[in-house]
Amino acid sequence: MLFFDPRLSGNDEVSCATCHDPALGYGDGRATFETFDGGDGARNSQTIINSGYYTSFFWDGRSASLEEQALGPIQDPHEMNMPLDELLEKLKGIEGYEELFLVAFDDGITEENIGKALAAFQRLIVVNDTAYDRFLKGDREALTEEEIRGLDLFAGKAFCITCHGGENLSDNMYYNIGLNSEDEGRYGVTKDDGDLGRFRTPSLYGITHTAPYMHNGSLETLEDVIRFYNRGGDDHPNKSIFMHMFMSEINLTEEEEKDLLAFLRVLGGEPPIFSKPELPGMK
Ligand code: HEC
Ligand code: HEC
Repeated sequence: MLFFDPRLSGNDEVSCATCHDPALGYGDGRATFETFDGGDGARNSQTIINSGYYTSFFWDGRSASLEEQALGPIQDPHEMNMPLDELLEKLKGIEGYEELFLVAFDDGITEENIGKALAAFQRLIVVNDTAYDRFLKGDREALTEEEIRGLDLFAGKAFCITCHGGENLSDNMYYNIGLNSEDEGRYGVTKDDGDLGRFRTPSLYGITHTAPYMHNGSLETLEDVIRFYNRGGDDHPNKSIFMHMFMSEINLTEEEEKDLLAFLRVLGGEPPIFSKPELPGMK
C-alpha cells in the first residue's frame, strides 16, 4: 500500500510506483526520472527487480540496505519531497493505516517500520526462474541453440560474466565502463579519484522490461548495449582497464551479436505484476 500511495509525497501525486511502474519493468521508461517540479532528474530510475539481492543500493551504492534506501526518495526534494516527521503525522491521520501497521509491527507507524514494510514488499519483486535458470538446473531443452551460443559468449569470449556473475548476475562491485557522462558516480560517496564515474554492476534479470539502459539512460535498446561493449565502450578518462584491454578486443561478428542478444532476452523473464491495492481512507 505504501509503495502505491501518492500521499507519501508532498503534493499527493508521486508514489514509488510513479518511477517504479510495474508495467514498465518497475522503472519509468524514461532516460532520467522526472523531478518533483517537472524537470529532468540526474539519473535513470533503476528497476527494483531483484533489488533484494544487492549488497548496496542506488547506482553509486550509497545506501546499505533496502530499509534505509526507502526513506531516501520520500524526503528527497526532487523526488517525493515529504519530510519524514510530517509523513508520520499524515499517515496517523489517515483512517486505517495505524491499524494496518499494528497488525505487522508492535509499535505501529514509525520511520523504521515504513522502511521495513517497503523493503519487505520489494523483496517479492523477483525474476529468478527464467529458461536460463532451468537450463542451469539441468533442463538442457530449456534454451535454443542460438541462446546456448549466446550463453557461451556471455560466459566466454564476450567477458560479460566477469562483472555480471553470481546468482544475481551482479558482482556488487563498481566499474567505469566508459560511458560519456559527467556523473561522478561512486566518487560522490568515497571521494576516491579511482571511483570517478564508477557505478555498481546491475543485475541483468528482467532486462528486457527496463529500457532505456545505464545510469543516464543513454543506451536505448539491448542492441545498443551490445554494440557499446563490442566497441570497448566510449570515452571516459577513468575508463576501466578491463574495458581498455579486453572489451576493446572482443570483436563479435554480427552473428555473435545476435546470439548474445538472444541470450540476454532469456534473462528478461516475467516479473511478478502487483497492481495498486485499495488504499486506506480512499474508498
Ligand atoms: C521521482 C522518481 C522516483 C521515485 C518517486 C522513487 N524512486 Fe526509487 N529510484 C529512482 C532513481 C532515479 C533511482 C536511482 C537513483 C540514484 O542512483 O541516485 C532509484 C533507485 C531506487 C532503488 C535502488 C535499486 C538498486 O538497484 O539499488 C530502490 C530500491 C528504489 N529506488 C525504491 C524506491 C521506493 C521504495 C520509493 C518510494 C518510497 C521510490 N524508489 C521512489 C527514482 C524514483
Ligand atoms: C567491467 C565490468 C563489466 C563488464 C565486463 C560488463 N558489464 Fe555490463 N555493466 C557494468 C556496469 C558497471 C554497468 C552500469 C554502468 C553505468 O550505468 O554506468 C553495466 C550495465 C549493463 C547493462 C545495463 C543494465 C541496466 O539496468 O541499465 C547491460 C544490459 C549490460 N551491462 C550487459 C552487459 C553485457 C551483455 C556484457 C558483455 C558483453 C557486459 N555487460 C559486460 C559492468 C560490466
